[in-house]
Amino acid sequence: MADHDDVVTNVSSNPDMNSIIARRMVLKGGAGLAAVSLFGALSGCGSESNSLSAVPTIGAGGASGATTSRVTALGFNAVAKSVSDAIVLPNGYYATVLLRLGDPIKAGTSFYRNDGSDPGTTYDARIGDHGDAIDYFGLGADGKYAPNSTNRGLLVQNHEAITPLFLHRNGPTVINGARTVADEVLKEFYVHGVSVTEVVKEGGNWTYKQDSSFNRRVHTLTDIDISGPARGSRYMITKYSKDGTKVRGTVNNCAHGITPWGTYLACEENWAGYFRRITATDNPRRSAKELASFARYGVAGNGRELWATVTPDTADDLYGRWNAEVRGTSTDGSDDYRNGPNTYGWNVEIDPFTPNSIPKKRTAMGRFAHEGAWIAKPEAGKPIVYYMGCDSRNEYIYKYVSTALWDPVDATRGLAAGDKYLDNGKLYAAVFSEDGTGQWVELSFNLGLVNAGYSAYSFADQADVLVNARLAADAAGATKMDRPEWGAVDPYSGAVYMTLTNNNATLRTLNSTNAANPRHYNDVRTTGTAQRGNPNGHIIRWLESTPAALTFRWDIYLFGARATANAENVNLSGLSADNDFSSPDGLWFSRTGICWIQTDDGAYTDVTNCMMLAAIPGTVGDGAARTITNTDANGATRTQSTFVGAQPGTAKLRRFLVGPIECEITGVCESPDGTALFVNIQHPGEDTAAANISDPTKFSSHWPDGGLARPRSSTIVIQRTDGGVIGA
Ligand code: FEO
Ligand code: CA
Ligand code: CA
Repeated sequence: MADHDDVVTNVSSNPDMNSIIARRMVLKGGAGLAAVSLFGALSGCGSESNSLSAVPTIGAGGASGATTSRVTALGFNAVAKSVSDAIVLPNGYYATVLLRLGDPIKAGTSFYRNDGSDPGTTYDARIGDHGDAIDYFGLGADGKYAPNSTNRGLLVQNHEAITPLFLHRNGPTVINGARTVADEVLKEFYVHGVSVTEVVKEGGNWTYKQDSSFNRRVHTLTDIDISGPARGSRYMITKYSKDGTKVRGTVNNCAHGITPWGTYLACEENWAGYFRRITATDNPRRSAKELASFARYGVAGNGRELWATVTPDTADDLYGRWNAEVRGTSTDGSDDYRNGPNTYGWNVEIDPFTPNSIPKKRTAMGRFAHEGAWIAKPEAGKPIVYYMGCDSRNEYIYKYVSTALWDPVDATRGLAAGDKYLDNGKLYAAVFSEDGTGQWVELSFNLGLVNAGYSAYSFADQADVLVNARLAADAAGATKMDRPEWGAVDPYSGAVYMTLTNNNATLRTLNSTNAANPRHYNDVRTTGTAQRGNPNGHIIRWLESTPAALTFRWDIYLFGARATANAENVNLSGLSADNDFSSPDGLWFSRTGICWIQTDDGAYTDVTNCMMLAAIPGTVGDGAARTITNTDANGATRTQSTFVGAQPGTAKLRRFLVGPIECEITGVCESPDGTALFVNIQHPGEDTAAANISDPTKFSSHWPDGGLARPRSSTIVIQRTDGGVIGA
């Protein structure tokens, strides 16, 4: 099927080599473990055991103010690669299903029939599709944020996208290129976005409270404020908000961020494809700058789900607002949605503890295909710093540094603290140099790099720089990366890790490798099919003297590869059968200091489903400089120098989990005591052919419900049979 994530719009001339500077527990089928615990009101629990209580946290999982040391050994045996329709875990571990697509999260909402017959109007009270990033916010007895509340919390997760085939009785109804069943589209509006669900642990088992007053859906119809420098700017004017201060909804929320003040950042990733803009008729109505912006962000085409095609439209433009063409007669766009795409591509701050609060799009953090936002350990008197990636091949890595200095008093101020730290700051793009150093280049209208001397786009003001951050980063000479996915800040070393999931031979050619994106090779499938470029991806990391620093040192922590690939030029990290992987995507440090790596892979799927690995990383510079020889399809060769981290061996990198068929493993967080890991299993069975929707025996997956059920994206909880800390 078409992969909506594989969009490339960086046509800048930026050089890629920049010169500016338990037995094995297999949870399969039958709802046994899941169903018994899914429903029924539960009261919260007050008791907390804190087996990791010496490790203070800054919010939900993520960078912590760790004071204890990292675990020194992985406490489980590696699991084998798998192509079964099941969750595979090490001996001594088990998984239960906690939240599934469609599960009701409001009192009175009906059980999900999972046959496409549930009315669209019920979906704003159900768990959305394609659960992605997820985080745990401890919930205190007073209903407030309690970071160490380990038996009661709010799970906040993104619902990135949809598998339309399984949402509707017979897949989406499309006649002559148009969606003709409005209820189907309403359903799709609701299953995107974010969910907040109260979860509790009782008698050792995790369940969710269907009737919790904290349960909430944020989706493509939710009213959201535009905040920061682009608020009220000409770029944000729509018929919905003639003064450019509001936007309806959020979409394609991929990874996320957390704040020290107990809020959640839902990051808008591949939003561009949802808009309809027929270039043949719209381009003549557009300025050269608008066309440059659309081209750089990929706003063109019918719209991936054809939302704008529903007729008749509603009085409030429910469907037509996904049409980004000039259709009105105004000069400023206040009578149509020509500026609609400018209102997406941001980080959206949500306060999970205040269900009626209006989320805010934080424009100071820039607009691009936001994968996520990963915070450096906050220090009193220092800026708040986030690292961010733009998920597309040959896109960039960014950093945001707040103007305000962190004051721990703000830890209880929610969105007001967000206004203070996330609406005013500096945005930078990363340049990775050949010598193992790098620098952050500021994207500022006040600096010559951006406001002058860049012929491809003439910025008008700082709002323009932020709305068109990709173009500003082009101007700054940022380094094109092999598709940035998740990042994570090591709570013990402070090093920043970021997955570069993969790149192809067209965009990472033999002659366009650089030290930070060094491989061009052939990964041969067992069928003999060639996969060239950097099809297995790698994980880069860097270390700064302080998070606000403008320079860093970097190396490549891990290279994805088949264990059987040649060790000289491809399997540079010395991966073995116990830990070989491809296309790293999700990345996260638990409080143990274990680095968890999740895959969203299409290259190694001839051998294994997607997986999650656990690692005990060293730090930047623990390996060595190395020169490899790349080879292209014509047999031409070229040498490339790089910096390779110490090989982990099985002792420091092990496969922990393999997921069901055609899933992606994405999103992971833990209970504060470290005894439960919450993991999202996204889109199992997604490649099921549309023609097979009426024959359940031909669905490629039936996970998690088993039998002949339609597959569903779900959140699982992983625990140890002895109740211990996961991974240790
Ligand atoms: Fe939504 Fe970058 O994966
Ligand atoms: Ca991802
Ligand atoms: Ca993905």
